[in-house]
Amino acid sequence: MEAQRGPTVLVTGGAGFVGSHTVVELLNNGYEVVVVDNLVNVYKGDGTLPVSLKRVEEITHKKVLFYNVDLLNPVLLEEVFRMHKIDCVMHFAALKAVGESVQIPLTYYKNNVTGSIILLEVMKKCNVKKLVYSSSATVYGTPQSLPLTEEHPTGQGCTNPYGKSKYFVEEMIKDLVFSDESWSAISLRYFNPVGAHESGRIGEAPSGIPNNLMPYIAQVAVGTREKLKIFGNDYDTPDGTGVRDYIHIYDLAVGHIDALKKLLEPSFSRWKVYNLGTGTGYSVLDVIKAFEEASGKKIAYEIAPRRPGDIASSYADAQLAKKELNWVARKTLLDMCRDMWRWQSNNPDGYATGPKV
Ligand code: UD1
Repeated sequence: MEAQRGPTVLVTGGAGFVGSHTVVELLNNGYEVVVVDNLVNVYKGDGTLPVSLKRVEEITHKKVLFYNVDLLNPVLLEEVFRMHKIDCVMHFAALKAVGESVQIPLTYYKNNVTGSIILLEVMKKCNVKKLVYSSSATVYGTPQSLPLTEEHPTGQGCTNPYGKSKYFVEEMIKDLVFSDESWSAISLRYFNPVGAHESGRIGEAPSGIPNNLMPYIAQVAVGTREKLKIFGNDYDTPDGTGVRDYIHIYDLAVGHIDALKKLLEPSFSRWKVYNLGTGTGYSVLDVIKAFEEASGKKIAYEIAPRRPGDIASSYADAQLAKKELNWVARKTLLDMCRDMWRWQSNNPDGYATGPKV
């Protein structure tokens, strides 16, 4: 039976990794979805819909409304808002490669900060004043204490333009919300999203050499890369390698649905921040071991120098989301590796693999 159609959510960056998985859960939960994406980091395929969204349609058996629009273009963006009755915005669109952000900071600030300002201005003009923002645990900088609670200071020790842009936009949204009580917003601070949809049809498709651990390991397992470099084994952690809070992309997507429900409650009080993590840290060696178990492949690796800007450990205190959103991450590290492996082995070249549907 078709679920009753719910509110309409405009999703910026909905064709990307986190965006596409969240669109699946929005559609499965009866929301109407309008996707806006400039496809800068997305495999376009040869149709009007990018391949990731075609596959979202295939998974959900629902149509996805999509506009190839850049947030830096206020005229086109406003047209989209005028064409639909939007109740709420989920804002994912951003550039996210840490190293690249150091090389081309202005491009990052223009896309992530100016793009967000334009989005907020258009929302204001069109009287859409509810927002879920895709933030990152990177705003905490170097942890002063662990686990990281939402009260931990932010902005200090953000070492790169990507991280600073996430912090700046959070601050901007907060100032806006407190300047005008008709606005309300939730910022979700992600720890390390990994894995893929359990169907193996959508997943993370980094262009070029992956920057992040799990996509790199998956490419070693599938034979695209020869061996993993472990960036340091002399950290103050149980086995010397970096410890992170990996969270399955499905759990992360569900966290957005729960945040949205909270935001749409009449009693919601304007501005909240929630960590989305499991609360458990795993080392690089733990992840390698789990991936070997999930894939049945040996992951070749070597120890390399520390990566500049890396920290020893980062993991969430996820109690606030549990208490207020009734959300908990359910998937294990092995689930994350199994789903990642299904996606990677079925799509060794990401969305460019095989038939383009
Ligand atoms: C990185 C970003 C962070 C962003 C997050 C998104 C950096 C410095 N930080 O976090 O801002 O929000 O991704 O998921 O890039 N590792 C290796 N070899 C590799 C890759 C990674 O040993 O080839 C290690 C790292 O040193 C780290 C762990 O694996 O200990 C996780 O790294 P990664 O997946 O890049 O995530 P973060 O650094 O936590």
